[in-house]
Order: sequence, then structure tokens, then C-alpha cells
Amino acid sequence: MRVGIIGTGHVGLVTGACLAKLGHDVLCVDSDIEVIRRLRNGELSFVEPGLPELVAEMVSLHRLQGADSIEEVVQQSEIVFICVSTPPKADGAVDLSSVETVARTIARSLDGYLVIVEKSTVPVKTGERIIRTIQMYANHEAEFDVVSFPEFSREGSAIQDFLCPDRIVLGVESRRAEAMMRELVQPIDAPLLVTDIKSAELIKHASNSFLALKISYINAVANICEKVGADVKVVADGMGHDRRINRAFLDAGLGYGGSCFPKDVSAFIAMAEEVGYDFSLLKEVRAVNDERKARVVAKLREALWVIEGKTIAVLGLAFKPNTDDVRGAPSLGVIDMLVEEGGSVRAYDPVAVPNARDIQSDRITYCQGPYEAADGADALAILTEWDEFRNLDMARIKKLLATPIVVDARNILDPGSLGDLGFEYHGMGR
Ligand code: UGA
Repeated sequence: MRVGIIGTGHVGLVTGACLAKLGHDVLCVDSDIEVIRRLRNGELSFVEPGLPELVAEMVSLHRLQGADSIEEVVQQSEIVFICVSTPPKADGAVDLSSVETVARTIARSLDGYLVIVEKSTVPVKTGERIIRTIQMYANHEAEFDVVSFPEFSREGSAIQDFLCPDRIVLGVESRRAEAMMRELVQPIDAPLLVTDIKSAELIKHASNSFLALKISYINAVANICEKVGADVKVVADGMGHDRRINRAFLDAGLGYGGSCFPKDVSAFIAMAEEVGYDFSLLKEVRAVNDERKARVVAKLREALWVIEGKTIAVLGLAFKPNTDDVRGAPSLGVIDMLVEEGGSVRAYDPVAVPNARDIQSDRITYCQGPYEAADGADALAILTEWDEFRNLDMARIKKLLATPIVVDARNILDPGSLGDLGFEYHGMGR
């Protein structure tokens, strides 16, 4: 099928490349012409495992191409995906101005029947708004349907998640659009749920918020573990064996970050408020999460007594492993607090340093490797659970540190063997 992608960021490019892989002809556009220039050369501006290879392959087969305008994409496509960014506003609600602009532009270019898919994460009733906007700006003969096709891929494993999802949700209210969407996703082997548009939109926000809730729940349990001397990892394992609970997303630590969970939890709270419901449960999820960063700093303060004048080696800047994304990264919040208290930071991340460099502080030194970061530092803090940090030569780290203190904010190291090496170990809820 002929597919258009409007907005070629992380979601748009993964969607486009994967649909091309499934055999469709995909045409991408972006408001940033540099993104399209790079795409034509098979280049990427962010880290996503496997994506550079897939994009290069699809571009060379001419199944993934760049366009210069939304008009061109609309005119050449049977199905168009809206993948533009939907950033948060100051009050937590979602800024939908890019979606509205795209809807108007699509309306003015409509010529024949088109399926318009909302792929960006949007609050419930956005589909209704898109339909109304297109009706307002399109000519009267224009034919179209709007579909909600929420995305459940995670950064770092986006291709696998897209091609082998747990489920596909299609919010679609016309038989014609449903038949086309079924044909589009037919090669993907996954349960397919066809729903009304509003329910599909809600499934996305409800799913992300539920996962955030699981993380905050286990972090709250971790707080109790610390008080009574239990180990939250063991508690999570014990809980996770119950298939109704499931072990996934029960890793206690520094809390959730990224461009999705923090934004989506706030958006769901704001949307609930708009319709007259106080989602106090989610407000507590957010509060528990926000407190994690201060808790890590408190552990460092407890170990060092005074942070002012001390150097902390920070391992991990990305909001999670296998990405260079530092948007909403809890690590940056921890670094801010350390610097505010007069500490200095020597930071290392396998790929996220260029993105983190935007934090301007003469108290942050970016290092080439974990051992360089540890050299002469008063304590080591692990803030992202990269595999590289699970396999560090801790005897070497001990020799490099001025004092052998480790705060393992992601619970990836073994307290017993670190104790044997002579480290003072501080985990999260252990
Ligand atoms: C999340 C969802 O998992 C995807 O299904 C969804 O498509 C995506 O948001 C989106 O809305 O676009 P993502 O933000 O890429 O994906 O990352 P996750 O793997 O979900 O992790 C989110 C955060 O939770 C990370 O900071 C991670 O470190 C943290 N986390 C995760 C924990 O603290 N504990 C856990 O047990 C799991």
C-alpha cells in the first residue's frame, strides 16, 4: 500500500521503516528539512538499535523515501500517519497545535479518499477534533476517515516491538477504513482489537499510566523495604511469579523518565480534570516518582555527610539503556541537585553524552569511560542500567575512587560481592 508519514521523529521513522519492511511504499515528510535530507542518505539523528540498518536497506530499495511537502505525501498516499510531536503544556495538558496544523494542511490537499491515522500520543477526543477540523477546511467532495492506531513500542527495542507487538489496537468507525487498516497490518502476527476511536485513544494513555503506576508502586514498596531491612528485588520476584501481577515493570530504582511516561501521566491527569474527575491515584504515582531523585541525593549525602566540595562519578545519563535520549531523564535531576549543593560531577554514558552536554555547568566533566569518571571521585552513582555497568571491574573502580562508596540507583550490582571488595554499598530498597 502507499503510506505517508507526517513527522519523521522517533515514532514516525520507526513506523515508516517497519511498514516499508512489511512491503509497503512509504513516503516521509518533516517540518525540519534536515531530517528528510538525512533520511535520503540513510542517516539517523538519534540512537535506536537496528534502525540505521533497516532505514538504509529500505531507502536503497526505494520503499522508504523523503518528500518535500505534506501536500505531496497526501496526494501520493492511501493512508497517512500523523506522527508529529505532542509536547506538554505548562499545566500538564498536551499541546496539540502541531496536530491541528497538520490536520488543516491535510484538509487543503485532500483529493479523493484518504485514511488519516493518529499515531502521535494524544488525549481522548483528539480524533473527533481532527475530523471536525478536516471537515471545516476541506472541500465538500473530500472523502476521508480518521483512525486511532496507538503505538506501544519502547525506545531501545522499537523495531521488535513494532513488528512483534503484544497487540494491535485500531480505533476505527468505518468499514472502508477498517478493511484498509487490516490489509496494512496483515503481515504482523498479533491479536488485533478493533474499537471505537475514543476507546483506542484511552487504551494508550491508560496503558502508559498503568505501567508508571506499577513502577511507583514498587518504588513505594522499596521505601518500606529500606525501613524494615528487606530486599525489594526479592519482593518483586515473589510478586512477579503471580501471573496476574507479572514481573515486568517492577524494577525499583530511580523511577521512570523519558519523553512518554512523565508526559502521559500528567496528560491523563489533566484530561481527567477536564471531564470532571480528580485522578488522585495518578497524582500520587507522579509524586512517588518525583521523590526518587531526592532520595538518591539523600543517600549520597548520608554517605558523604556533606556534598559541597565532593566529586561524584555519575554512570548513566540516558533515561534508560539502549538510547541516547535524555528527555525527562531522572539522572539530570540528580545531577542538578548535586551541583546545587556544591558538588562536582564526573559523568559518563555510552551514547548520551552529546545530548546531555546541553546542561551548562562548569561543575560537570564529561568522561570517555567509567574508569575515567571514577578516577579520584568521592562516590560512584549508577543512574542508568546499561549492561556495561553490570560488568565493571569493581576492584579497579575501588582503586580509582578516593572513598569506596557506591550508590546503585538501579539495583544492578550485587551488594554481597561489593561488600567483600570493601565497598560501602547503597541500593534502592535493599
Ligand atoms: C514507554 C512504553 O513502555 C511504551 O509501550 C510506549 O509505546 C512508549 O512509552 C510511548 O508512549 O511512546 P519508553 O518510554 O520507551 O516506552 O520506555 P520504557 O521501557 O517503558 O521505560 C520508561 C521508564 O521507566 C524508564 O525511565 C525506565 O528506566 C523506567 N522503568 C521501567 C523503571 O524504573 N522500572 C521498571 O521496572 C521499568
